[in-house]
Amino acid sequence: MPAIVVSSNDSGVKHKDFDGKITIYVVLCGILAATGGLVFGFDIGISGGVTAMDDFLEKFFPKVYRKKLQAKEDNYCKFDNQWLQLFTSSLYLAALFSSFAASKVCSKYGRKITIQLASLFFIVGVVLEAAAIEIVMLIVGRIFLGMGVGFGNQAVPLFLSEIAPVKIRGALNILFQLNVTIGIFIANIVNYLTANLHPWGWRLSLGLAGVPAVILGIGSFIITETPTSLIERGQLLRGRAMLERIRGTANVNAEYEEIVHASEMARRVKHPFKNLMKRSSRPQLVIAVAMQVFQQFTGINAIMFYAPVLFQTIGFKSQASLLSAVITGTVNVVSTLVSVAAVDRLGRRVLLLEACAQMFFSQTIIGALLFAYLKTNNELNQGVAIAVVVLVCFFVMSFAWSWGPLGWLIPSETFPLETRSAGFSCAVSSNMLFTFVIAQAFLSMMCHMKAGIFFFFAAWIVVMTLFVIFLLPETKGVPIDEMTDRVWRQHWYWRRYMEDEDDDKIKKAEDGL
Ligand code: BGC
Repeated sequence: MPAIVVSSNDSGVKHKDFDGKITIYVVLCGILAATGGLVFGFDIGISGGVTAMDDFLEKFFPKVYRKKLQAKEDNYCKFDNQWLQLFTSSLYLAALFSSFAASKVCSKYGRKITIQLASLFFIVGVVLEAAAIEIVMLIVGRIFLGMGVGFGNQAVPLFLSEIAPVKIRGALNILFQLNVTIGIFIANIVNYLTANLHPWGWRLSLGLAGVPAVILGIGSFIITETPTSLIERGQLLRGRAMLERIRGTANVNAEYEEIVHASEMARRVKHPFKNLMKRSSRPQLVIAVAMQVFQQFTGINAIMFYAPVLFQTIGFKSQASLLSAVITGTVNVVSTLVSVAAVDRLGRRVLLLEACAQMFFSQTIIGALLFAYLKTNNELNQGVAIAVVVLVCFFVMSFAWSWGPLGWLIPSETFPLETRSAGFSCAVSSNMLFTFVIAQAFLSMMCHMKAGIFFFFAAWIVVMTLFVIFLLPETKGVPIDEMTDRVWRQHWYWRRYMEDEDDDKIKKAEDGL
């Protein structure tokens, strides 16, 4: 049997297919590593519910608690407190800085150890948070969780892409986002159940993040190191043996040689971050960063972090608000499954553009309803409140099959190998930066802009629609290593950035390299 077969996919695209099975071991490694997404999602989902719990507020944020007691005072401003926002957003700031360190550890010491460190940070963070007796402990715990997110989000998607057989790479990558949504969902249920356990329900909520963190920790000892990472670090024999094991065949010559070749090329690049600043890296870099900025400016985390607070603000009682968050959590998970099935059939652009229309519609109608019916100190009538919940679900649904998973997928598939890891860490840190910005600013923005906040996000959706139409090329069905020729050189705008690379190649050819 030949090692390489040339086959064509649905779109008629010719690509190389390596000999190899989808082994139980590779699936197990994928599932175990993807629990990194579970911890990340749990952290996103848990803070909104906890910051709505009276026992928690009374202990750590007494001022906010007293303001909350006078809830009738102002619907839009009652929880506006910088410390409360810092509690939520400190995690993302820590994640932002640690993702750069993580990218170094990841290439120098491997993916596996980076994931092990992530789980260690998670466990320390959970213990500090669940045992917190004062606010400093709470924030330090949150910073440890953030370091876990920085290390986990850098290593897990790379790990998944590197171990995946070519034909299921997309599906395996979205396993990460699927876990994020499951984590958010579980956190919503946990908050719903612990809200009535006085006075320590919040401790249980924060402490239960330890379960996925420990699963990730145990899993990180069972998973393989990726063959790419072993080979890149000069361990050729171990790399080959590992490749044979995860592919379930000794016939891995072609893939092995491609990895050896790619890592030789990558090793020649001494400063990946400097290389990333070259003109020819501009299209991928702009797209990777823009995908993250836009992902966050859809307003998704305003909904995710503060869904319970938001639902309370618009007049739901405490329990009903958590129940509403459970509903949005379910919609989030189920719609991500739609993305797994659709992304390689419909393509990335169709999903993103359809979602832009759906999200624009939801944000503007929510804004209009709140503008018309929610004054600073009335209660929404039930019909309007239900309409808002339905629209929130409609919004989450479209995000979950588009900007959610594709925000991670597209940056992981557009960079050439020599800048892939550095480029991806820029994507992770931009994601964290803008998640931080939204987390820190949302409550104050809601207090000042009132219902206008939803129009603010709607305006961003118009900008991202134009970006997708004009600047985001379709990458469906294009093999990763053919992106430059088949995507960037063909694009009406980005092709001018490839001239640098052409010049480089001509120069190398002239120099006889
Ligand atoms: C985003 C998170 C978001 C989550 C919602 C992820 O892709 O990066 O910020 O909370 O999706 O499901």
